[in-house]
Amino acid sequence: MVLIELKNVRKEYGVGDTLVHAIRGISIDINQGEFVVILGKSGSGKSTLLSLLGGLEQPTSGNIIWRGEDLSAYSEDELAIMRRSEVGIIFQHFFLLDSMTALDNTELPLLISGVSKEDRREWCMHLLSLVGLEERATHYPNELSGGERQRVGIARALANKATVIIADEPTGDLDSKKGKEIIDLIYSLNKGDGFMKELEWQPTIILVTHDVGMLRKGMRVLTLSDGTVISDQIFDGNYDKFDRLGNPSAVETQYEQ
Ligand SMILES: Nc1ncnc2c1ncn2[C@@H]1O[C@H](COP(=O)(O)OP(=O)(O)OP(=O)(O)O)[C@@H](O)[C@H]1O
Ligand SMILES: [Mg+2]
Repeated sequence: MVLIELKNVRKEYGVGDTLVHAIRGISIDINQGEFVVILGKSGSGKSTLLSLLGGLEQPTSGNIIWRGEDLSAYSEDELAIMRRSEVGIIFQHFFLLDSMTALDNTELPLLISGVSKEDRREWCMHLLSLVGLEERATHYPNELSGGERQRVGIARALANKATVIIADEPTGDLDSKKGKEIIDLIYSLNKGDGFMKELEWQPTIILVTHDVGMLRKGMRVLTLSDGTVISDQIFDGNYDKFDRLGNPSAVETQYEQ
């Protein structure tokens, strides 16, 4: 089922007298439950595309359609409600509140949505155990490692039972081993095993990365160049098909798994 449809989407930014064409006419469909990875060199438009897909920004022209509804018809308030209930965001720099425990940080989106304290606690303890932090619920961010902080960030992104999880370089602040663990965790959430299966919940994931080593078999890889999609393919496990920037290529480089 198509969840998000982009029709000839353009995004331009005015900078002084010049116009920056960040996205130049992208038309793609994102299906419910897909794991989409956006690759491409710096400035190619990855973060802009992610923000557009997640309804964080409106396009300059073209249409972004969520389950058949054009977001351009939404007011700012309606967009904010849509984002709060449907979109979970995992940040590169975690963005946890230092004065709050892991559990309180996880609960934050639900506090804003007015969910009762009892319900928040129970659900968020579930989520913390899902990301392997059951024992750390009462710890503060400065008592956690980078990888653990990002696990809290993931639990928080899941708190509102988001339809779509968006993540811009979620492993950018982690060493490569911790980064891979985080990708494996996000991948398992998307595959809908165990706990997710019980809940019949398979969030769609859209993730920006610089690191081709983060790809896992079955992920859909969109490669951007200069604001356009130059390749759209399902990763078959063969790293030789991409160069380090995610450009499909014949470059014979072996990537560390
Ligand atoms: N708010 C903005 N105002 C002006 N120009 C912007 C803005 N946001 C992005 N751009 C420009 O749009 C283009 C695409 O930017 P974007 O941040 O999407 O690239 P990116 O692929 O995410 O790069 P990186 O890998 O460095 O994060 C760049 O030329 C950038 O300078
Ligand atoms: Mg970016």
